[in-house]
Amino acid sequence: MRIVLVGPPGAGKGTQAQFIASHLAIPKISTGDIFRYNVTRGTALGRKAKAYMDRGDLVPDEVTIAMVRDRLNEDDAQQGFLLDGFPRNVPQAETLEKMLSEWETRLEVVLELVVDDDEVVRRLSGRRTCHRCGRIWHVLFDPPARKDTCDDCAGELFQRDDDREETIRHRLEVYQDQTSPLVAYYADQRILLGIDATGPVEEVTDRAMSALRRFID
Ligand code: AP5
Repeated sequence: MRIVLVGPPGAGKGTQAQFIASHLAIPKISTGDIFRYNVTRGTALGRKAKAYMDRGDLVPDEVTIAMVRDRLNEDDAQQGFLLDGFPRNVPQAETLEKMLSEWETRLEVVLELVVDDDEVVRRLSGRRTCHRCGRIWHVLFDPPARKDTCDDCAGELFQRDDDREETIRHRLEVYQDQTSPLVAYYADQRILLGIDATGPVEEVTDRAMSALRRFID
């Protein structure tokens, strides 16, 4: 399956992507994770992306699209993928459509995770991520057994630079202005599925999987 996850920052895209991708045995491709990996290592791509990410702005389309094209060309993405964080505006969506049609394929489903702004701020201000395996935790809603240590791999947990309240508010504005038009864009194509993304993580995963299964069947 070729799936896109869309939703505001903190909607739980990364959290759900790890479970959905594993249920469907497809790779999870997160543009935010790829950028952060490059920023940490100080690569040329990371240096281009860092200032935009720190401000909560979108990295320019030409940089992002080239990176996604390379990733989708890799072997593990040939039978399907789950995109988390891409596309992020209508030009990126149009480019993705063209790219897939060149490869004689198309997107099957766009899953929208719906949550309100107050929940986003609560979630992002308590988020912690594992340096080693990338597992996402929350200090209140999904705490690890030992503070600052990942239960899965014993890696060290960190707080993202863009999870300060002021930057979170700006990311929400960017989402409203640039990303939310994708909801209508994909609804017009009749491939949009929206689910309530509030409540316990496992319940949201169950909702997502039953919505996806109905769509596949
Ligand atoms: P990116 O990493 O994609 O950030 P984002 O879209 O802002 O989304 P987040 O990762 O903040 O949130 P999420 O929805 O994944 O939530 P999570 O599962 O972590 O992008 C970062 C930056 O990279 C962008 O600002 C931009 O600069 C750049 N970028 C990326 N893609 C780009 C593109 N296509 N074009 C241009 N620039 C791009 O959950 C959040 C917290 O909530 C966690 O602590 C989690 O444990 C908790 N949580 C999750 N679900 C629940 C639940 N059900 N109940 C309670 N808590 C929950």
